[in-house]
Amino acid sequence: MVRPVRMTEQSITAYDVSQRVKTYDADMELMHPNRSKMVQVAIEVLPFPRTAALRAIDLGIGTGYFTKQFLDHFPNSRILGIDGAQAMVELAKARLRFLASRVQFATRSG
Ligand SMILES: C[S@@+](CC[C@H](N)C(=O)[O-])C[C@H]1O[C@@H](n2cnc3c(N)ncnc32)[C@H](O)[C@@H]1O
Repeated sequence: MVRPVRMTEQSITAYDVSQRVKTYDADMELMHPNRSKMVQVAIEVLPFPRTAALRAIDLGIGTGYFTKQFLDHFPNSRILGIDGAQAMVELAKARLRFLASRVQFATRSG
């Protein structure tokens, strides 16, 4: 029988490795060459005007890649980014430092 708690630990531990985090986005670009376009399309199909004051949760925010594009597209929006891997969150905080007033982080699993 698969135990959910164990799965949660594994899914976070796999990402909480600073060496892996450093190359995460470059690795993703290799594995998913259309990653940027996919995120762009996912955001553009959201049925809200760009001026909407959205409040959203990025569950598993990782390096903040999606959140960065979301906040750029919706300049009045805010994000709560949740991730259990401290190493990923540190990179997300660095990437989003100029948008810090619009991002709140919670480092936890669940
Ligand atoms: C595949 S990465 C995706 C990161 C980001 N959303 C992206 O698209 O680049 C999955 C992220 O979810 C986090 N994660 C996985 N399971 C989790 C859990 N149960 N609780 C909190 N974070 C979790 C990992 O630490 C990792 O940063």
